[in-house]
Amino acid sequence: MEEIKVSGIFITIEGPDGAGKTSVINELYPRLQLLAKKGIIKTREPGGIRIAEKIRQIILDPRNEEMDERTEALLYAAARRQHLVEVILPALNEGKIIICDRFVDSSLAYQGAGRRIGMTEIAQINEFATEGTSPNFTLYLDVDSDTGLRRIQQNRAHQIDRLDSEGLEFHQRVRHAYLKIVEENPERIKRIDARMGLQEVVDQSFAAIVERFPDYFKGE
Ligand code: TMP
Repeated sequence: MEEIKVSGIFITIEGPDGAGKTSVINELYPRLQLLAKKGIIKTREPGGIRIAEKIRQIILDPRNEEMDERTEALLYAAARRQHLVEVILPALNEGKIIICDRFVDSSLAYQGAGRRIGMTEIAQINEFATEGTSPNFTLYLDVDSDTGLRRIQQNRAHQIDRLDSEGLEFHQRVRHAYLKIVEENPERIKRIDARMGLQEVVDQSFAAIVERFPDYFKGE
């Protein structure tokens, strides 16, 4: 008898600040849930994991002005590790579909390019943290930095954190790094133009995931 393969799929959603990632995921996830043939979970680092939550509070606290860039990169990697071990790997082993808001690509873009540590160095510490776990598929919601920053400033509900408060050039470096990552990973990453209206972005994101994984989602 053929062995039944139990393996989940790991999908990440990435994008610069102001791409509308949170709103997109909030609309996208219930639609995916309706069609999912397997268990599906939505998560984000630190994912409610006690240790990772504490690490994230330190990273994002605007009072921590003296934080060294490499400290920041290591803290993201540490929080990622804990979330991976406590949430992502168990869900993958149970054959679930995981929708994760940000993963290693965020560190490559924000710490590697935004903070100018270097994408190779950031890839190295994340390789250690994840032991090479990589998403099966990534949606990259792309927005230019002017539009992104304007959206953050208009969105009063969103509390400005230590990274949002960086200037235009920082955000431009982040976006260019993302575009480079997309170019280098055409199989894994799909770029979606997030300057479109929310509904259009959600529709395209939904179609991209369902088409890519027909074994995991029912047809509409
Ligand atoms: P969020 O906007 O998705 O809630 O993310 C919070 C901030 O954290 C955002 O400005 C991006 C930043 N970030 C990094 O700089 N590196 C990382 O590895 C992750 C996961 C997030």
